[in-house]
Amino acid sequence: MIRPGAFITVEGGEAVGKSTQIARLAATLRSHGHNILLTREPGGTPGAEAIRALLLNPATTLAPLADTLLVFAARADHVATLIRPALARGDIVLCDRFTDSTMAYQGYGLGVDCATIAALTEMIGLTPDLTLILDAPPEIAAARLEARATNPDRYERFDADFAARVAAGFREIAAANPARCAVIDASGPIDSIAATIAATVTSRLPHRIGP
Ligand code: TMP
Repeated sequence: MIRPGAFITVEGGEAVGKSTQIARLAATLRSHGHNILLTREPGGTPGAEAIRALLLNPATTLAPLADTLLVFAARADHVATLIRPALARGDIVLCDRFTDSTMAYQGYGLGVDCATIAALTEMIGLTPDLTLILDAPPEIAAARLEARATNPDRYERFDADFAARVAAGFREIAAANPARCAVIDASGPIDSIAATIAATVTSRLPHRIGP
């Protein structure tokens, strides 16, 4: 059976287990015979990855609007050269963060005008078919972040108030877009979160991902 492509984004604050879960979902969907493009933002193409390196470098200083415009510059390249062609081929695109991250981090977190971000989002012109928002209590995310061996990136260095604003932003985005967004409790064991995510994808996109 030929199915049209589907665009699924995975969102959430820092250290909620996004990367692990998106890799699990990709493996599950591949085992069911789907072609999967697994990608991330900011990044995904050589130009966008160069912008990512600048954005995540703790030595970078940028005014919030400049930060936002760079995120969208990376996104414009990623969408035009990687995501849209994959969707046109009929692939399922799994994207680690997308426009909701900009609303949560740059809008709710850094205070950039939400209408500006909405207008830039409109300009990109691609809405996910499904957005999974991973939600973990702040103390769990903070403990996971602490346990990471790597140096924190530029956004991970913002304080707990910033993280709380980002988390509240994701919850408001989910509440405002119930048909597109599913909030996933990311506080339990990895296997049970993976099972919840797989079941959510199948039930929300039955015509595209069905068995
Ligand atoms: P990652 O750690 O999930 O790979 O994400 C990279 C960082 O980029 C993360 O701290 C969130 C931040 N980010 C934004 O601030 N705005 C955005 O629009 C995106 C996509 C990511």
